[in-house]
Amino acid sequence: MNIIITGASKGIGKAIAEIFAANGHHLFLTSRGEVQLYKTMEELQTKYPAISVKAKPYDLSKKEQAKDFGAWAIEHAIPDIIINNAGAFEPGSIYNEREGLLEEQLAINLFSAYHFTRTVLPVMMEHKAGHIFNICSIAALKAYANGGAYSISKYALHGFSKNLREELKPFNIKVTSVFPGAVFTDSWGNFDNTAHRIMEATDIAKLVYAASQLSPGACVEDIVVRPQLGDL
Ligand SMILES: NC(=O)c1ccc[n+]([C@@H]2O[C@H](COP(=O)([O-])OP(=O)(O)OC[C@H]3O[C@@H](n4cnc5c(N)ncnc54)[C@H](OP(=O)(O)O)[C@@H]3O)[C@@H](O)[C@H]2O)c1
Repeated sequence: MNIIITGASKGIGKAIAEIFAANGHHLFLTSRGEVQLYKTMEELQTKYPAISVKAKPYDLSKKEQAKDFGAWAIEHAIPDIIINNAGAFEPGSIYNEREGLLEEQLAINLFSAYHFTRTVLPVMMEHKAGHIFNICSIAALKAYANGGAYSISKYALHGFSKNLREELKPFNIKVTSVFPGAVFTDSWGNFDNTAHRIMEATDIAKLVYAASQLSPGACVEDIVVRPQLGDL
């Protein structure tokens, strides 16, 4: 199968790429920074020589680039699974976060997925098969201090995902919304996770992969997963 993953150079996106690679699927990856992206591509290609790993850098917060990534992907393959994972977190509160943060968070956390998905959907709908995963967040289900624009953008992505689920039922395309709590990635900076207070990126990858393996008649609509001790 052909798996398209955004924000795949590191963190949760890279962990998802690796689990699909390990199970023999072909990958199409993107992120902004080309050095880390090509490093990930080469690492996975060397480790899993039987599959094809293709990558190209795009800034998905820019509408034209999100559409260009979609066009590049469908030029190479019919997408079987797409994973809208690219995103960024900047803490803030509505009353004092910096001017423009909402627009930026919406651009990377919502518009990226919207424009990219709309570009590849016609091919998937014609093919009458596929599975779309949207990596939302616990912040898409629950407001919390310092969530601000990030939380608003993830609630919006949640809305995007729910609408897609309804629209794509007759086209045999599954849609899964993923709501992780805290996951230990670069976005947590120097956080000390030696006590396993927060989750690993591989936890999310295992859940996504498992949800992709059900029979054609079953769709996992929501994956909600939190650290064992709850949210931080
Ligand atoms: N970690 C958590 O605690 C957590 C919890 C809930 C949900 N999430 C969500 O899970 C997703 C992945 O998070 P993560 O923690 O794995 O983040 P991460 O380690 O910071 O990785 C983010 C990925 O997205 C890419 N990216 C960022 N901005 C981009 C842009 N404008 N265009 C294209 N690619 C872009 C990054 O590469 P470049 O910077 O090179 O572009 C990188 O590959 C995000 O949507 C995040 O909101 C994370």
